[in-house]
Amino acid sequence: MRLLALVMLVAAVNAKHEIYKGWKSYIVKPESYEQLEKLGSKLLEFELDFVKNAALDREGIVLVKPEYQAGFLKFLSEENISHTVHVEDLKAQFDLEDQEILKQEQRTRSINGGRMPYDNYQPLNVIYEYIDRIAEQYPETVTLVENLRSFEGRPLKYLKISRDNFQSNKPVIFIDGGMHAREWISPPTVTYAIHKLVENLTEPDLLERYDWILFPVANPDGYSFTHTSTRMWRKTRSTDQHALSRQCPGVDGNRNFDFAWNTVGTSNNPCTDTYAGSRPFSEVEVRAVNAVIEEYLDRMLIYITMHSYGSLILYPWGHDGSLSQNALTLHRVGIAMGEAIDNLSLPSFRRYRVGNSLLTIGYGASGAAEDYAHSRGVPLTYTYELPGTGFGTQGFHLNPRYIHQVCIETWGGVVAGARSAASIYGKK
Ligand code: ARG
Ligand code: ZN
Repeated sequence: MRLLALVMLVAAVNAKHEIYKGWKSYIVKPESYEQLEKLGSKLLEFELDFVKNAALDREGIVLVKPEYQAGFLKFLSEENISHTVHVEDLKAQFDLEDQEILKQEQRTRSINGGRMPYDNYQPLNVIYEYIDRIAEQYPETVTLVENLRSFEGRPLKYLKISRDNFQSNKPVIFIDGGMHAREWISPPTVTYAIHKLVENLTEPDLLERYDWILFPVANPDGYSFTHTSTRMWRKTRSTDQHALSRQCPGVDGNRNFDFAWNTVGTSNNPCTDTYAGSRPFSEVEVRAVNAVIEEYLDRMLIYITMHSYGSLILYPWGHDGSLSQNALTLHRVGIAMGEAIDNLSLPSFRRYRVGNSLLTIGYGASGAAEDYAHSRGVPLTYTYELPGTGFGTQGFHLNPRYIHQVCIETWGGVVAGARSAASIYGKK
């Protein structure tokens, strides 16, 4: 009986990822600016999905649909751009990853005992049940807010955590996760911060000095979609933005903020992954994040938005690579965060790098959350690119056995940043 259930589960899993049938991913290595630009100019024609952007000193990884593979390869050889196949069969690769998750589930199911498990990726309902339970169980420190609903009608939930219900005007630290749906390691780092502030408070100074807002899944429609249907989905799921939005739903939430909107690293084509939307804040999920920033603008000291992957801590300005007036402090606090993470890290993980968004990640992008919050006056704003041990699509699929590790070290980074900021800004 149990065997039968398992067989059926595996069969169900294999029916997933159908849309990736025949897709391949390629490693491309442009060696001159010219080649890099040529590659960029083919994005739309071949509907290229760069899961790792190419730069001059860094190879890129791109997913290509079957119908474009021949044309794309021809183009690469004509332009002499060096390349190799990365994953022969993406569907098979995703099926394999699902089986890994399944195996991990069987191994660990019995030891979770109702807590939020960090040994595997969780579907939205498990994360939401956890948020609800924390709010219910700790009413003296935790307030659940769900003012808005996602495009598809899911509640957008975040927790306010405070010793005195935000009464005494302490500086606020705001962390969000899951804006990009496929970056699965992001939401658990935010629920883990909830765990460490509420269920397992080993750093009481953090609640003494700060009030906290934690928003684990900013894009629940996209997140659900990556679980039920398309693992590499990045955007929201809105269908009201463009004449083509029904065929090509969704907006890149991290291009939808009202900062130099739709000027750099974005697309007007709704079928691409960096579509900026029809206007700034077109997405209710982005408006929900913005509502938090606006409500606590005069108190917010640190804002972190959790993404993956790359082991990077990025700060403004990410659209043009220039530095803000507060760059020195941004860098100091960023370094404190990065050092703390590296000290808790594993030898096999990459060392963190800290710096300006554009220069450190290697491409510019406008309309991003961290730039927007900083432009509104939040002194310390960061995009974390959390670790990914594989590369290409496997980078988004950090092996589940590392989730707990990444949560622990990332929390170490947040703690160090909060303390460093406290020492720099003094008692507010
Ligand atoms: N991977 C993130 C994205 O593409 C990086 C954002 C960096 N921040 C910036 N302001 N450009 O959305
Ligand atoms: Zn992201």
